[in-house]
Amino acid sequence: MLKIGVILGTVRRGRFGEKPARWILDELNKHPDIEAELLDLKDYPLPFFDEPVSPGWISEPYQNEVVARWTKKIGEKDGYVMVAPEYNRGYTGVLKNAIDWVYKEWNKKVVGFVSYGSVGGGRAVEQLRTVAVEMQMVPVRQAVHIQWDVYMSMAADSAPVDPAKFKPVEQQAHALIEQLLWYGKALQLARQADHKAKQNLELEGAPAE
Ligand SMILES: Cc1cc2nc3c(=O)[nH]c(=O)nc-3n(C[C@H](O)[C@H](O)[C@H](O)COP(=O)(O)O)c2cc1C
Repeated sequence: MLKIGVILGTVRRGRFGEKPARWILDELNKHPDIEAELLDLKDYPLPFFDEPVSPGWISEPYQNEVVARWTKKIGEKDGYVMVAPEYNRGYTGVLKNAIDWVYKEWNKKVVGFVSYGSVGGGRAVEQLRTVAVEMQMVPVRQAVHIQWDVYMSMAADSAPVDPAKFKPVEQQAHALIEQLLWYGKALQLARQADHKAKQNLELEGAPAE
């Protein structure tokens, strides 16, 4: 089983993001090897990152309850789908802050993207790929880019919308899911092998890290 967190990367009142987030969540959960959960940043009102050191150097117990919850949740997952639009040719600040709060829990996990905007959110996704690499994540090639006409066809609807409206990007979603599964399973196996090797070393008396 591959546990995927669908990160809803906008918190604006009346946001569009909930529509593609709920749709991709359902698409993921149709697959028998995937267990997907919606991680809505509205449910994780993180403070702006204010630690004296980067998260790579911070460990439990976390002082802030939301940070503790968010970090634990990210740690539980094998991969992520970030749902993010373009805000001023980048991605959202709230998503960047949520990424910045965590480090090792992102490491060696797969990530894919669902985006929307005037160029299907292409510029936001390209920036997110660079950030993902810094977090030692593996971004997959395929993303879902919801173009303007598809966006407008459901803009006035409330979430969840009729899944038929996502038909124009259905193929993109299937390819994204296929790639998430391939890399996600490969990384899952590799992490398990790492874990086993570490346990064996500890049994042999090597000092724990
Ligand atoms: C602050 C802000 C900046 C935006 N900048 C862009 C942009 O640079 N490119 C674009 O395609 N759309 C842009 N948009 C339009 C958004 O893609 C569109 O409003 C989308 O619905 C925002 O996602 P949300 O509804 O989930 O918050 C911007 C919207 C906001 C609120």
